[in-house]
Amino acid sequence: MFRFEIKARDAAGRIGRLEVNGKRIETPAIMPVVNPKQLIVTPRELEEMGFGIIITNSYIIYKTPELRERALKEGIHRLLDYNGIIEVDSGSFQLMRYGGVEVTNREIIEFQHKIGVDIGTFLDIPTPPDVPREKAEEDLKITLERAREAEEMKEIPMNATVQGSTYLNLRTLAARRLSEMNFEIHPIGAVVPLMESYRFRELVDVVIAAKLGLRPDRPVHLFGAGHPMIFALAVAMGVDLFDSASYALYAKDDRYLTPEGTKHLNELEYFPCSCPVCSRYTPQELREMPKEERMRLLAIHNLWMLREELNRVKQAIREGELWKLVDERARAHPKLYAAYKRLLDYYKFLEENEPITKKSALFKVSEETLRWPIVRRARERAERVKEIFPETLRHPIFGEIPKYLSLSYPFAQSEAEEDFTIERPSRMDAKKYVMAIAEYQFGPGAGEAFKDAFVELSKKTGMPRQVKAKGVHLATVRADDGLLTLGIEGARRLHTVLPYPRMRVVVSEEAEPFVREGRDVFAKFVLFADPNIRPYDEVLVVNERDELLATGQALLNGREMVVFTTGRAVRVRRGIAQRTQHS
Ligand code: GUN
Ligand code: ZN
Repeated sequence: MFRFEIKARDAAGRIGRLEVNGKRIETPAIMPVVNPKQLIVTPRELEEMGFGIIITNSYIIYKTPELRERALKEGIHRLLDYNGIIEVDSGSFQLMRYGGVEVTNREIIEFQHKIGVDIGTFLDIPTPPDVPREKAEEDLKITLERAREAEEMKEIPMNATVQGSTYLNLRTLAARRLSEMNFEIHPIGAVVPLMESYRFRELVDVVIAAKLGLRPDRPVHLFGAGHPMIFALAVAMGVDLFDSASYALYAKDDRYLTPEGTKHLNELEYFPCSCPVCSRYTPQELREMPKEERMRLLAIHNLWMLREELNRVKQAIREGELWKLVDERARAHPKLYAAYKRLLDYYKFLEENEPITKKSALFKVSEETLRWPIVRRARERAERVKEIFPETLRHPIFGEIPKYLSLSYPFAQSEAEEDFTIERPSRMDAKKYVMAIAEYQFGPGAGEAFKDAFVELSKKTGMPRQVKAKGVHLATVRADDGLLTLGIEGARRLHTVLPYPRMRVVVSEEAEPFVREGRDVFAKFVLFADPNIRPYDEVLVVNERDELLATGQALLNGREMVVFTTGRAVRVRRGIAQRTQHS
């Protein structure tokens, strides 16, 4: 049993809910790597620390007679004494490091079945960076053959790892092929050598190349990525899972993880952390401890650090501040900064995933802010609106913007070095604001839907609020972001002025009666959606005859709505058959 759905998003990152065999975790998640032959921290302790998923190596268990026997007899959960989700690797990494393994693809998959793992991995070939193209192609051919073999025989949820070395079109091709097959998770493989040598810019190229070919409804794992300094960047690209052996490996060398990089215990006069280890001991006290004890305590600090940084990333997603965190983290190392700048080159990919509105104001924290997808998109849309509403105001981030967009996100909800002073609209102008916002939010021609509207100004703030025509409610200008929420009459008008398929989410007959009554749209009932819909857009829900059924807020972009089969696609605000209209 396997299920993945998206709960919240920012940049191309997402908070998801992953359920495997009745066990649930929230993503992005980090899987601590458990070496079954050497437990520095036990799986039981990991579970108590809140790690709901771990990864171990089925090949090591397979090759170690005592472990193999016990695993076959008791199952892997009893062997490791862990009740959470257990994912296993296949020996592929040993294949890359040592040039060979003594097991076939079929054998290791069968073994994974027998020991009762929750998520398996077939024996993909991790092709390192920079090999000749022919080598990368040959390896990929074998990986894809093994994928077909795995697909035929698999009885459990399974990873299908994207390979292709540093050849971006091979990565995209591999991603497309594997996406067409019956797998549950797509790791991006053989990136450890890139990370070890701080080639983060190429890591960005490889991850985006894979993301471009992958279907958006499956979680993505960055294989071998476990340093907290790259979490924010990787999540912003759409990575959902990480695995870390580093918490233990680093501890063996007296190395201490921080979100800005790694410190050696000998460098530290103070601990920049307040986890149970760091609040109890000083660096000096740790240095004086016996090796075993010190290693264990460092490993525990490292684990708390991974958890803390991941929580920070998730909180940033909730608040719509992931780009700000990526920007902050990029300052930790020049190579990370280069990677961040490279990521911003992928505007088309990023823009498709970027939410339309956010909870937090846009902060101009650096020159790179000007290249964030939310800024570039707002600029492009504002340029378009300017052609119809040429009166402008000067904005410290966006330059000359249409005066009638000055109340809306992200123009009004932003902070830069200089202030942007918002004028209260005059009663006469209020309608122009609403028409300009409609053009900005729903595209060319949308303003037409409100050309005879009467706009009420808030008595308290003087800002436009309710939009009506002949006493009938059309839309509301939201107080927090100055964008429109549609009423049913407003949706009807927009449906008339915007030709199909603009802003449409087409649902199946089966869902129609529920949606008309105002129930949410589940992704599995979406037949088609306008590919220009962005997360958190206000959309028109229609049936196959393009009859309006409801209006609501998109939780996925248009492309995702068509692909996803789990979770909600639209949070419906009003259905056409709803008697009472509430907002
Ligand atoms: N661990 C680190 N990289 C890889 C990879 O590319 N494939 C597999 N299966 N495991 C890995
Ligand atoms: Zn600590």
